[in-house]
Parts: sequence; structure tokens; C-alpha cells
Amino acid sequence: MENSIDWNSLAFQYMKTDYNVRCYYKDGKWGELEVSSDENLHIHMASTCLHYGQEAFEGMKAFRGKDGKIRVFRMDENAKRLQKTCDGILMAKLPIEKFEEAAIKVIKLNERFVPPYESGCSLYIRPLLIGVSPRVGVNPSTEYLFAMFVMPVGPYFKDGFKSTPVCILRGYDRAAPLGTGTFKVGGNYAASLRPGMIGKEKGYSAVLYLDAKEKKYLDECGPANFFAIKDNKYITPKSTSILPSITNMSLQQLAKDNGMTVEQRQIPEEELATFEEAAECGTAAVISPICRVDDLDLNKTYTFGKEGECGPVCTKLYNQLRAIQYGDAPDTHGWVRIID
Ligand code: PLP
Ligand code: COI
Repeated sequence: MENSIDWNSLAFQYMKTDYNVRCYYKDGKWGELEVSSDENLHIHMASTCLHYGQEAFEGMKAFRGKDGKIRVFRMDENAKRLQKTCDGILMAKLPIEKFEEAAIKVIKLNERFVPPYESGCSLYIRPLLIGVSPRVGVNPSTEYLFAMFVMPVGPYFKDGFKSTPVCILRGYDRAAPLGTGTFKVGGNYAASLRPGMIGKEKGYSAVLYLDAKEKKYLDECGPANFFAIKDNKYITPKSTSILPSITNMSLQQLAKDNGMTVEQRQIPEEELATFEEAAECGTAAVISPICRVDDLDLNKTYTFGKEGECGPVCTKLYNQLRAIQYGDAPDTHGWVRIID
């Protein structure tokens, strides 16, 4: 079948591809990977994922290099994080090898959807793990379904690598300090939908959440971690309610490689006034620089440059990260797996 995809106008949105892979957990063990071209899952209406949020997902990307080869970025880290999420909400843990086998299989089966190098786009891989046992009492499932599907994507924020403003909305929290913020569970995203919509309606690309307890320190954005740059330092929040971002972890390493100091610590909101650059980072967001943070309830504004403009450190880190992902720079940290 011929591809009729316009690679240059891809957005970050669902697209049907040829195949997905699935695996069931029953009688205390994971079964074999199954290949399907059905976009639907057939599950019991009393499944714990539907009622009690026993749902975890992941997000990772594969890139086609100039050499035509497909590279997946740090999928072992996604596999490990999924296991942590499973521990967090009492789901059966998928073995790392099974996760990687599924990723390789689903990428190969959908190879024609991996965007060409020149497009600057990538293949987004969405792993999903859900509890499927029927329960009406609040209890974990004994049966689980793991699925992985893919789609070609462009930038998460429609303008790509351009700075955008974000806002602080003090009337909303994304996750509680000792809640599920460190896990990649759907409930955290449900909590972010209304504030996210309010932020978008007011012209912001995202909401920057504060810590839910003291409303004092920066946490993260709806779909991405936060970092800032000042005095040759890469500064990123330490918090018990944010997702440990694999992109952030990688950027911290690149910052160190560039001779910068990395600080992972609490960041009081007022410190925003002292930063030279600020950005969101994540698999979907890559690095999305922030030109301004508006605290809408306190009527405060922190500016890092003109809308659209990106600072030199963010630009350098962005180029370095992308170069590794597309195979343009040596993979000195062993982050990339070539699919052959
Ligand atoms: N924070 C949240 C809430 C996210 O949804 C994501 C996306 O996965 C991130 C941070 C970034 O994490 P990663 O870099 O592993 O994609
Ligand atoms: C990702 O970056 O992979 C995410 O999961 C973020 C978002 C699309 C929810």
C-alpha cells in the first residue's frame, strides 16, 4: 500500500497505522505477544481500568536517520518507568524484555509510517497497560492487557521549536505530593484537562503547576517537565509529585557534558525572575522553550525573551538531543537502539 502522508504537515495526533501488538496477563503470567490490526480493545465493562483508574501508559519515539536506519530512544527507561508505575498502582509488571520485544515488533510492522529523516518528524510509540478483571469493590485486577500502538507525529506544540507562554493557575493541582504524580497514570492527566483547557483558551501553551501542598515551588507542566538556565546551571525541580522525565534525565547529562552544573532542587516561584531561559521538556514536547510565565492569580509575570525566540542554551541542548536521536551525532551514552 502506498503512503499518502504529507510528512511536512504532521501534527501530534492519532493516526491509524497497520498493526498494534498486545499481550495478556492471566493466571499469574504474561502470554505471548499478539499482532492485531484492530484499533479496538474488547474489555469487560466492569474492568478496573474503567472504574478505578488501573491504567498506565508510556510515550517514546523512533527516528529515521539520514542513513535510513530507525533508532528508538531509551526504551529501556520507558520499560523501567512502566514497571514503577505498575508497582505504584498494583498492576502486574511487564518484563523489560517483553516491552522491548513489543516495541521492536510494532515498529517493524509499521515501518512505512516512520517519517523520513528530512521531515524532522518521528514515530510516536504509545504503550498502554490496563487492569481488565471485573470488580465493583475497589480492588486491583488479577488480569491485565498490555498494548502498544504507533503513529507518525510532528511537534506537540503546533509551532515546533519556538518559545510560547505558560501560565500558573493556583486554583488547580495536577497531583498530590504523596499521590500518583510520579507515575504515568491516566488520572493525573484527567486532573490536568480542565486547567489545560482554561490555559489554552487564554492563549497559553500549557499550565505550569505548583506543588500542591505549599503552592510555593514549581512542579511541572501538564505533559512535560520544567527546567531553567542561569549562570551556566541547568536547574530543574525536585518534587514528589512530578513524573521522572527521561528527556529531562538526558538533558541533564548533556548539560553536564557541556560543562554546566546541574541542580535538581525545589524552585520557588519567585526564582523565575532570575532565570535566563526556561523550557518544558518531554518525549512529545522535546524541548519547548517558554518565553513567559504568567501567574494569573497573583498578577505576576516572568519574561525570558520574545515569543517565538529561543535562548542559546535551549537551542544547543535541543540540537544535541535531536542529533543523537536521528543518528547525526555519536551515541556516546548508549541511548539509542537501532532496529534492524
Ligand atoms: N511530565 C509529564 C506529566 C509527562 O506526561 C511527560 C511525558 O511523558 C513528561 C513529564 C516527560 O517525560 P519523558 O521525557 O519521559 O517523556
Ligand atoms: C509524552 O511525552 O510521551 C507524553 O506522554 C506526553 C503527553 C502526550 C501526555
